Amino acid sequence: MPTNNQNQNNQNGPTAMQTLQVFLEFFWVLIQLTYFNIEAIVRWFVPPPKKSVNGEIVLVTGAGHGIGKEFAMQYAALGATVIAWDVNEQNNLKTVKEINRLGYPKAYSYVCDVSNREKVFETVEKVRKDVGDITIIVNNAGIMPTHSLLEHTQKEIEAIFDINVLGHFWIIQAIMPSMLKRNHGHIVSISSCAGLSGLENLVPYCASKFAVRGYMEALRMELELIPNCQVKLTTIYPYMVDTGLCKKPIIRFAEAMTMLTPYEVAATAIDGQMRGVRHVSVPRLYWYMNNYFRMNAEKGMKAMKEFLGVSLGSDLS
Ligand SMILES: NC(=O)c1ccc[n+]([C@@H]2O[C@H](COP(=O)([O-])OP(=O)(O)OC[C@H]3O[C@@H](n4cnc5c(N)ncnc54)[C@H](O)[C@@H]3O)[C@@H](O)[C@H]2O)c1
Repeated sequence: MPTNNQNQNNQNGPTAMQTLQVFLEFFWVLIQLTYFNIEAIVRWFVPPPKKSVNGEIVLVTGAGHGIGKEFAMQYAALGATVIAWDVNEQNNLKTVKEINRLGYPKAYSYVCDVSNREKVFETVEKVRKDVGDITIIVNNAGIMPTHSLLEHTQKEIEAIFDINVLGHFWIIQAIMPSMLKRNHGHIVSISSCAGLSGLENLVPYCASKFAVRGYMEALRMELELIPNCQVKLTTIYPYMVDTGLCKKPIIRFAEAMTMLTPYEVAATAIDGQMRGVRHVSVPRLYWYMNNYFRMNAEKGMKAMKEFLGVSLGSDLS
């Protein structure tokens, strides 16, 4: 029910005092914008200090191969307990054995299909009993069929979303309650440069990686509603990585824009996680370049894309 005052305001328009207050509030927002932009520039040169992950229990999905395997090895070397999940039991066991061989005994292998919600909850419970509460999640497992939208089967499109997006939701729903209870935890989700800008032959994949970026931003809004919440979020946007996932890379300036190694992607991502950085592109500059190009006319962005000549050929041809 509007009060008498509100009714009066609606009829007579806002008072001079109210207009001044809105003006001052807006001016305050502009000051904050300037301050936070300067802070971001300073942070580029002087990043926040790293927090140790020694003693943390880190879940890495897709740990049997590629970037996930590197995440598992590097977190173990930093003193964390590693919980390796993969659908490929043999590869996952190999990762754990390699970690053990390097002298880190605290690594455990579990077979889990991240797209199966029931199995995710069951496996999280098993990990809790065997090892303890997971305190860092690395949502890494992903698939990337690469052909035109009309050539994608229904099964492929559903699998892309089930693994690359919904799997993250099931894991977060299963683990975040214990993080909130302890008021301690970190969720790292792997998007992609394909989650920053669209690419041909990758329509469902790009949509899934934009979704990762979207849900992480929305989840941050929810967590910010909790006073002093210490559950942190980091989203990772790697450029093409030499793991075999990108089957037909097309790179015009191949020397300057070489494919990344899984090692450098995991190292940059872990560094960002330990410093509490919210968005980490690999290379780091790409996040800022994308933001800059997005401010330009769309046709200008297309011209830049064509100049760079980075794309993926169809895996069907
Ligand atoms: N390779 C790239 O160029 C690149 C670039 C940007 C982002 N990414 C992203 O990085 C992540 C890892 O990519 P990668 O290149 O290391 O891939 P990869 O194919 O080398 O490894 C992926 C691992 O995930 C596992 N996996 C697949 N489906 C699973 C499921 N349902 N449940 C559990 N495990 C499953 C696979 O068995 C495999 O071991 C993916 O999310 C990918 O989209 C990759």
